[in-house]
Amino acid sequence: MVTDIAQDERSNAAPQKEGAAIDIVSVTQAFRSGGKDLPVLDEVSISAKPGEFVALVGPSGSGKSTLLRLLAGLDRPLFGEVYVDGEPVRKPNPRHALVFQDPTLLPWRTVRENVAIGPEALGRLRDSQDRIDAALALVNLTEFADAWPAQLSGGMAQRAALARALVNDPSVLLLDEPLGKLDALTRRVLQGELLSLWEQRRFTALLVTHDVSEALVLADRIVVFSPRPAQVRDIIAVNLERPRDQSSAGFIALRERILGLLDADAAASGTDALHYETDATE
Ligand SMILES: Nc1ncnc2c1ncn2[C@@H]1O[C@H](COP(=O)(O)OP(=O)(O)OP(=O)(O)O)[C@@H](O)[C@H]1O
Ligand SMILES: [Mg+2]
Repeated sequence: MVTDIAQDERSNAAPQKEGAAIDIVSVTQAFRSGGKDLPVLDEVSISAKPGEFVALVGPSGSGKSTLLRLLAGLDRPLFGEVYVDGEPVRKPNPRHALVFQDPTLLPWRTVRENVAIGPEALGRLRDSQDRIDAALALVNLTEFADAWPAQLSGGMAQRAALARALVNDPSVLLLDEPLGKLDALTRRVLQGELLSLWEQRRFTALLVTHDVSEALVLADRIVVFSPRPAQVRDIIAVNLERPRDQSSAGFIALRERILGLLDADAAASGTDALHYETDATE
């Protein structure tokens, strides 16, 4: 029995080996807005295998964040169902972590105390100290564990937000433009770090981004949304070896293909699609 407890404590600190399967099945979502129904997602179906890295690109307002909120259990779809490892998602789960564009750190807590929020909420603060240390080390913030959020750069704050998500050893990591507000150089660095975190932890990742190059650097497959109400316009497999060479012919061809899809939609709806190429414009 004593051995069993010791075993449990060890596994508590050990990383999750495999991510969860995601199945989004015919999901339709609409909001009531100004007395009218606003259709947002139109029969969207997407699956991700355990440990797969899927990126989602699409026009602003098409429903990408709406879809992540459904996966995070923050909302329920009007029609269809969202499953993680075959179970319908009905409520938030600490192992299905969501990271936003803004790090949303609590300013009155140190970095370490921010990372501790998840274990604390689960009543597991005392036996999670190793886990918190490991999460801080994973994002290279050990030296800043006792710093206050106001003392961090934008990139460091976003690393702290990632550590806060990773401390619960997520089987699914939902990323809503997590690097969107960072300068181009910091974004490149964090893309590399995100990739290495995923390679170490093998969670299933669903990344929303406006940066097509970012999607191509990171993802196994890229889902392209149409304008709202979003339908899956295309799903593109990125069969390029990592780390990916952005100047390779294969990379450029895929980028052109995805930008072409987005541009065609933008032209049809009269919106500006240039912001999809943030790397090229900064
Ligand atoms: N709770 C809500 N109530 C009413 N309308 C909403 C709500 N949440 C989102 N919407 C609307 O749904 C549409 C899709 O929003 P969503 O935030 O999912 O888009 P997005 O693809 O993430 O856009 P962006 O790329 O700009 O972040 C928008 O028109 C938005 O106004
Ligand atoms: Mg959004």
